Amino acid sequence: MTAPFHRGRRLRQSAAMRGLVRETHLSPSQLVAPLFVRSGTNVREPITSMPGQDRLSVDLIVEEAKHLASVGVGAVLLFGIPDTKDDTGTGAWAEDGPVPTAIRAIRREVPGISIWADVCLCEYTSHGHCGVLCGDTVDNDTTLPLLAKAAVAYARAGADVIAPSDMMDGRVAHLRGALDEEGFVDAAIVSYAVKYASAFYGPFREAAGSTPQKGDRRGYQMDPPNVREALREARADVAEGADMVMVKPGLPYLDVIRAVREHVDVPIVAYQVSGEYAMLHAAAERGWIDLPRAMHETTTALRRAGADILITYFARALAEGRS
Ligand code: PBG
Repeated sequence: MTAPFHRGRRLRQSAAMRGLVRETHLSPSQLVAPLFVRSGTNVREPITSMPGQDRLSVDLIVEEAKHLASVGVGAVLLFGIPDTKDDTGTGAWAEDGPVPTAIRAIRREVPGISIWADVCLCEYTSHGHCGVLCGDTVDNDTTLPLLAKAAVAYARAGADVIAPSDMMDGRVAHLRGALDEEGFVDAAIVSYAVKYASAFYGPFREAAGSTPQKGDRRGYQMDPPNVREALREARADVAEGADMVMVKPGLPYLDVIRAVREHVDVPIVAYQVSGEYAMLHAAAERGWIDLPRAMHETTTALRRAGADILITYFARALAEGRS
């Protein structure tokens, strides 16, 4: 007679049993699909480092949003690819720019999907930084009113959610003030509260042509080794009026998601970024990993860590139930 031991395999014997005891679930309504919108008509420009992702003109963005809504995806997150860039990123608040145009079109033609707009200057500045340059540094306080102009332009076009990703200090308070003053009290703010200076944004910067020409973003994005700092950032943004907070990237920061989950009670959004998506595709193309399984495993891990909502380039594939 051996000593009694734990028979964990009893609950893993069949798909039905595993389904019964599964602790974490991911549903399409918890997904946000990032989309890159550009000028033109019927333009689909593939992003080489992100297989299956394209820069789309507004008419095709509307088609994509319709499809995403039909498979139950909760929201789209819009990034603009402007035709021209300048020093202060004026294209970010142009009323006829790609993002406001796409917001109006989706609002008109696709009921039932939440419209999120990323607010940052890096896609619109000729130097590629997220704010106004003063010498070699990005000037925090002169950048704030410009971000507010962009936020108000997107809210006016009909965005449900404003998502500042610039990492300037005080931007949540500033944007909340500007939105309220213009009467957009119902536009929610999801702040990229905990955004690290990460190697995993490479493919996004290729897509948006937003790699800084000089220097890097370490003066404003967070230092990867820090987690207590993440709690300060998240608490500060909630105090300034953020309705939800984001942790970004996803997979290398599961501990941070968990820590933030335990310290603030607003919904937490995790962003599985471009480099995470590219990395899985690259390995799968070589036959080294199984892409659908890796897609499910990584996104479930983000939910298990404590994220309520996921922003992921896999949103469409997940919602379509590809496996
Ligand atoms: C803009 C912004 C970036 C991402 C989202 N918003 C790029 C950056 O900070 O360099 C990255 C998204 C991704 O990699 O998928 N500041």
